[in-house]
Amino acid sequence: MTIVDIDAKIPNNVGLAEDRRLQRALESWQPKFIEWWKDLGPVAFQDNEVYLRTAISVGQEGWANFGHVKMPDYRWGIFLADPEPDRRIAFGDHLGAPAWQDVPGEYRSELRRLLVVQGDTEPASVEQQRSLCLTAPSIYDLRNLFQVNVEEGRHLWAMVYLLHRYFGRDGRDEADEMLERHSGDSDKPRILGAFNEPTPDWLSFFFFTYFTDRDGKYQLASLRESAFDPLSRTCDFMLKEEAHHMFVGATGIGRVVQRTVDLMQVHDTADVAPFGGIDVAMLQRYLNFHCSVSLDLFGAETSTNAANYYAAGLKGRFQEERRTDDHRLHDAVREVPTVAGGGLTTRSAPALAALNETLRDDYIADCQKGIDRWNRTLAEVGLELRRPHVGFNRAVGAFRDHHVSPDGRLVDDATWQASVDGWLPTADDRTYVESLMHAVTAPGKMAGWLAGPSTGVHAKPVDYEYVRI
Ligand SMILES: [Fe+2]
Ligand SMILES: [Fe+2]
Repeated sequence: MTIVDIDAKIPNNVGLAEDRRLQRALESWQPKFIEWWKDLGPVAFQDNEVYLRTAISVGQEGWANFGHVKMPDYRWGIFLADPEPDRRIAFGDHLGAPAWQDVPGEYRSELRRLLVVQGDTEPASVEQQRSLCLTAPSIYDLRNLFQVNVEEGRHLWAMVYLLHRYFGRDGRDEADEMLERHSGDSDKPRILGAFNEPTPDWLSFFFFTYFTDRDGKYQLASLRESAFDPLSRTCDFMLKEEAHHMFVGATGIGRVVQRTVDLMQVHDTADVAPFGGIDVAMLQRYLNFHCSVSLDLFGAETSTNAANYYAAGLKGRFQEERRTDDHRLHDAVREVPTVAGGGLTTRSAPALAALNETLRDDYIADCQKGIDRWNRTLAEVGLELRRPHVGFNRAVGAFRDHHVSPDGRLVDDATWQASVDGWLPTADDRTYVESLMHAVTAPGKMAGWLAGPSTGVHAKPVDYEYVRI
């Protein structure tokens, strides 16, 4: 197991103390990061003590420590999963060769780009969520928001370490720019469109962590397959933290659903707004929105970049080694969705070019699992939530210039305009949801639009003082 230096200025298990130059470079980036956190992290509670978990090792058991800490004092560190002895490249043209411990010259710019795009999303989500702390539905939820935020900050550290360690001057410049681009900034926006939209309310936050953090899971899982071993080990550890972010989304929506069902049963009506709840049709519109914008993050159905990244060994498929094909995909083909002849159909494409679609398929199957769980609660009132068709509300790929209904019908412009208020959140929906957003700060108390969690954090009771106010 790698040795963890937990008391260092930058906690790490990468032997930072042995590389003075790198250590100095990262220690000079650290104050810029803290400054960014104070300027663009959570808009309040920076001086309050929050019950947070901090990574202290990478082992299966006890990798995290729990305790009250002020967020600016959080111990953001650099943690790579332990190396796999004699790890071999599992796919692409270098299949079977030893994994790379350094960056091959010919893939330098592609790898740097992958790190920068991934890294940019991490601080972007903190910026998007910065005002949510003013309206948390409970201090349990407030703590979970802050946990997600500090870990997204750590994920930035993870990418910045790789940039500093392996990309010299260019890498240091890229690391600085991570703190110069800002979500929604008109001059220097974040790289991906979805990360420039604010997360306006807690319902959006729960759907964001369910759908958009899950895109992050699939991107990280395919980078974990990378031939570039330090990237693989970095992503491996990031995925441990990412699981909590999706838990926040899955249980958050689950609690909203539970509250809605409770109100429906008590008042014997589907219209729960008069009682401060969120009705199922509105939940469906929010789900449609967040699911469809997250599907865009996987890119077009076919992509030369995706094919090149795979062939080069930079980015694999989800769980590459569990697959039973040749892991090169030179001759393989698959069907991808398309719009032709006035309808939705498929076309045959080289599997190598269609890797975005393959990753999107894996993601969709994963998304469905949580929806199925919410539907077990909704079954009590004979309702359900449905995942919208993959072509619905898409801005990227084959469907971008077409209108597709949530149930998968190609519709004309007039039909779309006449129906869209039933399919996507309306201005009235957003106003209503906003009207529900009031901070609840007494330990154990919950806002009226969601049920309490079934358990607290790390075996603490639900009414524990997760944030000392
Ligand atoms: Fe992240
Ligand atoms: Fe995340």
